[in-house]
Amino acid sequence: MYSIAVLPGDGTGPEVIAQGIKVLKRISAHFNIQFNFKEFDFGGELYLKTGVTLPDGAVEGLKDFDAIYLGAIGHPEVKPGILETGILLKLRFDLDQYINLRPIKLYPNVETPLANKGPEDIDFVVVRENTEGLYAGSGGFLKKGTPDEVAIQEMINTRRGVERCIRYAFEYTRKRNKQKKLTLCAKTNVLTYAHDLWMRTFTELAEDYSDIETDYAHVDAITMWMVKNPEWFDVIVTTNMFGDIITDLGAMIQGGMGVAAGGNINPKGVSMFEPIGGSAPKYTGKNTINPIAAIMAAQMMLEILGEDQAAEAVEESVVKTIGKLKSMSAGQMGYSTSEIGDMVSAGIKT
Ligand code: IPM
Ligand code: MN
Repeated sequence: MYSIAVLPGDGTGPEVIAQGIKVLKRISAHFNIQFNFKEFDFGGELYLKTGVTLPDGAVEGLKDFDAIYLGAIGHPEVKPGILETGILLKLRFDLDQYINLRPIKLYPNVETPLANKGPEDIDFVVVRENTEGLYAGSGGFLKKGTPDEVAIQEMINTRRGVERCIRYAFEYTRKRNKQKKLTLCAKTNVLTYAHDLWMRTFTELAEDYSDIETDYAHVDAITMWMVKNPEWFDVIVTTNMFGDIITDLGAMIQGGMGVAAGGNINPKGVSMFEPIGGSAPKYTGKNTINPIAAIMAAQMMLEILGEDQAAEAVEESVVKTIGKLKSMSAGQMGYSTSEIGDMVSAGIKT
């Protein structure tokens, strides 16, 4: 029995999460896996009503679950930054989810903006460090609001944090067993301290993984190669900020935000799975948003929980369902959000 904390969140979050849960319930019926779902109402509405992002004790309470399934955080009436730092980033940090795993995989019948590239060319995974770097929240203002204002935001890189991320990436590359190639993405030519630490750690750990080919690319160059030669990549390991940026590019080449899922992983604790597309306020409540990303987040949850067969069954059914869609974009799919959930769920085979 897995206990799953469900955080539907804002905007279209609840609609897409409902489809993922539908699919997980179907998994229960076909595989011997039970889920106990418990819902929490953290998000923009709760904040507007109470002024609270995460209530006292919420983080501690979440540690009792096997996984967290998150819809979307972001509300048009809440100032940017409050919900992101108060909920999403706080959960990532306080639950020490130090890996953000983001597969970039183009499925058949999904349109990519890259000319002459197909599913055989676009299949890699970004391992993004998820608790440090420019996201650490270290810094402050001096003389704020005056002409002499100073704003500092420090990039924190610890040997321990960098090492555990890179080690996870090596292990993941080995387990994935495809090209067996790990590319470090950083900016060693400019960030001569911070990314020197990344490079040294990467080079040292590589000695433990002689079966894995290693490569390096500067972040600016990698945005170029992701467009021109995505087939070069198997696994990319990178910093928090760079990972944030290149995975939005990745989402576009895999067919858009309707498909892209991510996992915030604490290998020894509770991990959190989410579609990476955001709350999409303009589509809220219309039953037109694409739930595939949320379903793939649930698929990833199964994989990380060690339920490989169930995870494969969901992926297969998603592939079949995608084959029937006119487009991956909201409102143009030829089916509604809930119909797509029904199709994936009906397609689950043991
Ligand atoms: C993401 C998002 C978040 C991030 C925001 C909402 C704080 O863009 O998950 O990629 O920057 O990590
Ligand atoms: Mn992002």
